[in-house]
Amino acid sequence: MALALLALASVPAAFAVNVDGTVSSGEYSKQTAFDNGNYRLLWEFEGNRVFMAIVAKTPGWVAIGFNPSTVMANADMVFGIVGNQGNAQTSDEWSSGIFGPHAPDVNQGGKSDILSFAGTRTGDTVVFEFSRLLDTGDKFDKAIPTSGRFKIIWAYGPSLQLSAKHTKAGSATIQMEGQK
Ligand code: HEM
Repeated sequence: MALALLALASVPAAFAVNVDGTVSSGEYSKQTAFDNGNYRLLWEFEGNRVFMAIVAKTPGWVAIGFNPSTVMANADMVFGIVGNQGNAQTSDEWSSGIFGPHAPDVNQGGKSDILSFAGTRTGDTVVFEFSRLLDTGDKFDKAIPTSGRFKIIWAYGPSLQLSAKHTKAGSATIQMEGQK
């Protein structure tokens, strides 16, 4: 019996992330924070998929952008738009210019590659979770590495309108296997 328990304990939990719009303790093994903790990013890899959660203090949209060239240019962006009732929408976008514009991949000849998403709002904090393939094959997406350094941009907006410019935005290079 003890051996059986030991064997079970050593098997990594399959599908540990639950895309339900809440982040529970231990759900994601990697995380980092920006803007004095007002924007937190958590992530987990499962097979060929990545799961991400954005936890931010904002009444508006939240977004992450992958591997831009300059400022926002050529960034593969994922937006989370979460209403007060936890009604969530997402948009898989691509920024073609340094300060935008960004438009849905589907409007530029690509695909929407978000596999699952959900969000909640509690007080002034929004949680948005999503999953996608690490490498979607879409020319308007960047492949996400599971190790090494990777450049991202983050932003959150003042309202749920995606045309509203961010209240705060920044760029960072993150360590994909978690901070060392
Ligand atoms: C929603 C529509 C958006 C508009 C209209 C917009 C517009 C702009 C503009 C005009 C700037 C120049 C600097 C400034 O005026 O603050 C800028 C900077 C920037 N944007 Fe956006 N942006 C949008 C969305 C996003 C998103 C979704 C991200 C990230 C996922 C992002 C990341 C950045 C970053 C990192 C900078 C540089 C900030 C800095 O250096 O301080 N933007 N944006």
